[in-house]
Amino acid sequence: MNDVAKLVLPDGQTAELPIIEGSEKEKALDISKLRAQTGYVTLDPGFVNTGSCQSAITFLDGEKGILRYRGISIEELAEKSSFLEVAYLLINGNLPNQTEMNGFSDSISTHALINEDMKRFYENFSSRAHPMAILSAMVSSLSAYYTEATGGANIDDLQLNAARLMAKVSTIASFSYKKSIGQPFVYPQDKLSYCENFLNMMFAVPTTEYEADPVVVDALNLLLILHADHEQNCSTSTVRVVGSSQANVYASVASGILALWGPLHGGANQQVLLMLQQIHEAGGDVDKFVAMAKDKDSEFRLMGFGHRVYKNFDPRATIIKKACDRVLEKMGVDDPLLDIAKKLEARALEDEYFVKRKLYPNVDFYSGIIYRAIGIPTNMFTVMFSLGRLPGWIAQWKEMMEDPQNRIARPRQIYTGSQLVQYTPMSERG
Ligand code: ACO
Repeated sequence: MNDVAKLVLPDGQTAELPIIEGSEKEKALDISKLRAQTGYVTLDPGFVNTGSCQSAITFLDGEKGILRYRGISIEELAEKSSFLEVAYLLINGNLPNQTEMNGFSDSISTHALINEDMKRFYENFSSRAHPMAILSAMVSSLSAYYTEATGGANIDDLQLNAARLMAKVSTIASFSYKKSIGQPFVYPQDKLSYCENFLNMMFAVPTTEYEADPVVVDALNLLLILHADHEQNCSTSTVRVVGSSQANVYASVASGILALWGPLHGGANQQVLLMLQQIHEAGGDVDKFVAMAKDKDSEFRLMGFGHRVYKNFDPRATIIKKACDRVLEKMGVDDPLLDIAKKLEARALEDEYFVKRKLYPNVDFYSGIIYRAIGIPTNMFTVMFSLGRLPGWIAQWKEMMEDPQNRIARPRQIYTGSQLVQYTPMSERG
């Protein structure tokens, strides 16, 4: 028998709320029967206190700065694993043996081409289109090619559709870059690893040989691993909400991509770089920008700072910061924006405003500097985040579909508008 909490309401009703305990001893009040028993709902803007599901994929402890995928620490995965292996781990729940890994990798290579008709879609986007708009539209369009006529791409076909998504999103993303710079599309190649293949599709041209620098391949693997899942964040919750209506996996992932695009979420990585550039162009005066971020009359926020869950440090940011120094040194790149980022971080971390609110650099603060060093243009940064987050979205969609407790997501509200009013004919309105 679970422990229960007792809720006593002002009208004298009482409710018993079972206490749910997770494997890391996190505790929750189960309010799933509250409305049926009492007529009350809960109010929690931004879902700050609300657990939307029970999940065995990712654990994070915001106070201690812990992040684990399927129980394995992000530090260990970052050091020892590859992005594709992490994708397998997230989606299937265990590290693959060699045969499983080969099978997963082969199935992704097999599905890397997109239907030739889809190439023509690129011709019709404005040359000013943001790559995230193109990516979401293209992923949504996959539903038109790779699902049954009913639009279904359901849990029975997930292994197939997961491989298609992992493969085709990489192809779609690189094609959108090629389109934006007016270069011919470069087709995927089976013989290359996932990251090498992506870099080849991005940077090869038909006129010369291209071989990805192993330093760049490693850096890309690392960044994708660090972004691969982050439990019930805004885009993942979007994937789950959309999928809860039984929408197919392509439609659900396309919705997640759009949620990620927002500047308070994945779009922050592009905003961080633009901010660092702005500081650089303004002479490198970080104090002015810190003051602006603290000014309540200003809309300006320090992009790449703060996190809903991490309140001491973001372990991904710690790993990326170290990688930044390493990658830039190995590549012989001297980027003034890295110095500005470090100065800005040091300055903010000694400021009472940021200390009091527990605002620290998040995963996006340093990632853009590495992307820039490896040749990814700024407006593609959030696309790179999508590529990384994809296995997490697929894993969470799968877990939700397999969960017998899953119901269509349908929050309640507290209505604050007018009570019944009569319709006023046009002639009587002021
Ligand atoms: N710069 C300045 N002040 C900030 C910042 C920031 N980056 N972030 C939070 N604050 C302040 C808020 O103004 C608020 O101050 P107040 O208490 O005086 O009103 C306080 O800190 C709490 O902030 P909230 O917005 O309530 O925190 P919330 O948990 O809702 O938001 C978020 C978290 C969206 C990440 C926020 O910190 C932010 O906007 N950061 C900048 C954008 C960013 O980097 N996003 C990427 C997040 S990581 C990811 O999605 C992959």
